[in-house]
Amino acid sequence: MVTGGAGFIGANFVHYWMEQHPNDLVLVVDALTYAGNLANLDPVQQHPNFLFVQANICDTSKMEQLLREHQLDTIVHLAAESHVDRSITGPDAFLETNIIGTHSLLKAARQVWITEGRCAQHRFHHVSTDEVYGTLEPDDPAFTENTPYAPNSPYAASKAASDHLVRAYHHTYGLQVTTSNCSNNYGPYHFPEKLIPLIITNILADQPLPVYGDGKQVRDWLYVTDHARGIEKVLLQGQVGENYNIGGHNEWQNIDIVQYICREMDSAFAADPTLQERYSQAASAIAGESARLITYAKDRPGHDRRYAIDAHKSGQELGYRPLESFETGIRKTLHWYLQHPQWWQSVMDGSYREWIAKQYA
Ligand code: NAD
Ligand code: DAU
Repeated sequence: MVTGGAGFIGANFVHYWMEQHPNDLVLVVDALTYAGNLANLDPVQQHPNFLFVQANICDTSKMEQLLREHQLDTIVHLAAESHVDRSITGPDAFLETNIIGTHSLLKAARQVWITEGRCAQHRFHHVSTDEVYGTLEPDDPAFTENTPYAPNSPYAASKAASDHLVRAYHHTYGLQVTTSNCSNNYGPYHFPEKLIPLIITNILADQPLPVYGDGKQVRDWLYVTDHARGIEKVLLQGQVGENYNIGGHNEWQNIDIVQYICREMDSAFAADPTLQERYSQAASAIAGESARLITYAKDRPGHDRRYAIDAHKSGQELGYRPLESFETGIRKTLHWYLQHPQWWQSVMDGSYREWIAKQYA
């Protein structure tokens, strides 16, 4: 069971897993909130071992029924409200899905796997974030698995609570859990309200590129397929009851990223004249001046200054290291958005919701 499999990381994880493990049954459970998009699962829809169920993880009896009916022995739990800005304007949904929803799933897993004794060997893998550790100063050492939790946004606090519940279900009930805490992901199918896809799509629409505050906040960027590989490593080699940090070895200031994407986009337009026809509204990129769209905006309240992952444990215990550099990952990402305008345009004009509604009418 992959929860949140119609979202950004979930979908990329499912694509990766089904390619690497084509004989495994993969059942995606997703409520299809604004962040869920069935088009993200197009590459696997026809796979004979793929199933999709629209359901809310807060529905414990439905989760139990699915675990029983399909004899599932592994949950990869990605379903969440994931956008920090939305958690600032409306925290309730974050508490509901990230805390109550995770608890609902833990209860279902305990009931079916332990109380009913259906799976002696089972695994509940919880996908979490580096934001639970709080914020770093420029010279602070990076977050390790032993860094005390100090979440600063409602999103981070709700993820921290979910991490603690997962831990408690292991210690109290013997549920076989692992948790991974990952840094900022980027790549295909990234919802265009997060920084990197927002910058790409705004350049193509010749819209302002909003940089919060002074733009010197630092994030550690990881290509999404590298995250999928990290989760695979934890599932196959990780120790039950353990947490693993997964990072990109790739710290960048936001303003540097925005400028880098502007340069890459200018080069892409200069190298391929067909882009000018396909994206005729991208006047600044066509002129080789995407950076003129950069606009400093009001800072995010409580904005964490720096995140950085110390990934020694996953490196030493699991042999994990990301394969993509930022340069190769951004190029792939940019190329994907340039090749899939119908995907991001349908997200931006809202028509992907109408299509989903029709599927379930
Ligand atoms: P996303 O917002 O793109 O996708 C979340 C998915 O969960 C959507 O498909 C949505 O429909 C589904 N969902 C939401 N509420 C649900 C509910 N109650 N029941 C069932 N499904 C529900 O998120 P993402 O960026 O892909 O993140 C996935 C996970 O990875 C999250 O747990 C997030 O905290 C974690 N994470 C994300 C990043 C990142 O950079 N994006 C980094 C570290 C960890
Ligand atoms: O660190 C992992 C986290 O990364 C995940 O747990 C979250 O689910 C994920 O959304 C992401 O959180 P961030 O807040 O870091 O991502 P976001 O893309 O929203 O912002 C990245 C940085 O860019 C952050 O410092 C805020 C800044 N920003 C963001 C937006 C949307 C801007 O300067 N301008 C913007 O318009």
